[in-house]
Amino acid sequence: MMSASTMKSPQKDSSSCHLTHLSSWQKLVAAHHDMRDFCLREALSHPARFDEYKLTHDGILFDFSKHLITDDLLAALYELAKQVDIEGWRARMFAGEHINNSEDRAVLHIACRAPETAKIHVESENVMPFIHQVLKKIKNFSNAVLDGTIKTSNGQDFTDIVNIGIGGSDLGPRFVVDALRNYATRLNIHFVSNVDGEDIEPLLARLDPARTLFIIASKTFTTEETMTNAHIARKWCAEQLGEQAISQHFVALSTNEVEIKKFGIAADRSFAFRDWVGGRYSLWSAIGLVIALAVGYDRFAELLAGAHSMDQHFQTAPIERNIPIRMALLGVWYINFYNYHAHLLMPYDVRLGKFAKFVQQMDMESNGKSIDRDGHHVDYATGPVIFGEAGTDSQHSFMQLVHQSPLPIPADFVICARPHHHLAASHRALMANFLAHTRALAVGQTLEEAGGDPARIFTGNRPTTSIILPALTPAHLGALIAAYEHKVFVQGIIWNLNSFDQPGVELGKKLAKPLKEMLDQHQMNAHLDCSTRGLMAQILAVSDAQKTD
Ligand code: F6P
Repeated sequence: MMSASTMKSPQKDSSSCHLTHLSSWQKLVAAHHDMRDFCLREALSHPARFDEYKLTHDGILFDFSKHLITDDLLAALYELAKQVDIEGWRARMFAGEHINNSEDRAVLHIACRAPETAKIHVESENVMPFIHQVLKKIKNFSNAVLDGTIKTSNGQDFTDIVNIGIGGSDLGPRFVVDALRNYATRLNIHFVSNVDGEDIEPLLARLDPARTLFIIASKTFTTEETMTNAHIARKWCAEQLGEQAISQHFVALSTNEVEIKKFGIAADRSFAFRDWVGGRYSLWSAIGLVIALAVGYDRFAELLAGAHSMDQHFQTAPIERNIPIRMALLGVWYINFYNYHAHLLMPYDVRLGKFAKFVQQMDMESNGKSIDRDGHHVDYATGPVIFGEAGTDSQHSFMQLVHQSPLPIPADFVICARPHHHLAASHRALMANFLAHTRALAVGQTLEEAGGDPARIFTGNRPTTSIILPALTPAHLGALIAAYEHKVFVQGIIWNLNSFDQPGVELGKKLAKPLKEMLDQHQMNAHLDCSTRGLMAQILAVSDAQKTD
């Protein structure tokens, strides 16, 4: 047996300490001490503060005035950004350099939303013609499905689309399709991700195979959950419509042409992307096909344009006025200096109800790491625990803790000024709640204001960013998502992490394979630890999972 001490450990020396030894970091340590009496209520009584700390882009307002910051503190954070060379890393990403060092890949989701005239190179290839060729294919295909030019195997119009994918091949498109529900086309869109049979079986039972199109969305085309569900769908379709129907009822979105072919999907029904698009950054690539079907290609193009506009802001705005950089620096300020390790995402819009779940993967899979780019253990905290839910529902669940727990949780509140619905009074009530909770978190309530009841004291001083979108249009949504992507990128650079690999999820996958074989064969390996043996014995004794399908 390998003891913890005999397992090869990453080095714990020199450069892992680099960040905390920077002069700007040391300044921030001192600033944190100096800010111990900082009072947000008092700071917000200065009328100029809102204008001084807000930033806007394309009509989207980011209010940073409700943060534990002063001009001097921001200056120290900007110095940190300069010392870790955010501008240099940003330039390297946009130039297609292999900044994903562990996988030796470029990081170019930004290219997926750049105009055709742009020139973005990976090695010597300008990737823009490839990207726009795939976009044209998405456009032609989605338009043809929607206008009925592309028919089912028995000559009918498709009515239902099932996107089978997981992680980045699911969460991004699922969130966007839900968020842009006001732009919905005539198609019924369904998502299947979990290997739990409860996800796909009841859905298939409701669908008419003759009217259903399956999208198999998988960068690798080998992910266990996706391929298990894809084969279940394939079998179901072939049993009901015949093997010859597969070519008309399945499309693939992937980088893996070989596996697509083996599955039986023809080249004209497969949509390619490249390894320089990370899974959790892939909704802009061929993975966005389901978005184009759900809201129409033109809306998908607007989403890309909105994201591109935020890319340009991120690429060109100075550090001092750069929205994603400020979001990232504030996150570092709270995580590393206040030890606030959670981050709440609170959209006051039910259409953004899946926002936190989406950002959770993007952020936590990117920066939830403790080994830095150079293979050293970090000696500082990294990515936050992201959680959230739409307000006002969340006001009646976890907001009690957010207001009064001893440990504050920084939060982002998002709202749209103009709703798509016609219930003006409802929207005014929603906006009032949005304003009330950010205000309550910032200014709190004193004992006196609480009428002498200590249980009703709110400490305040709880930082929030308020984000106001003019309306939930595809372009504004694209810009909002891109801002969060770049925030994650900047934090990864500060913490010296490779934000674009995911070694942490590999171990679970590796261990699941032999365990599945043991369950298939109804046989336990003697070398399993006692807990896993005990659990498996229980499962085998009482479950019917060993029965074959
Ligand atoms: O969770 C690990 C991961 O690799 C994600 O990064 C990715 O989004 C997901 O699995 C799905 O991978 P694929 O698109 O290759 O099926």
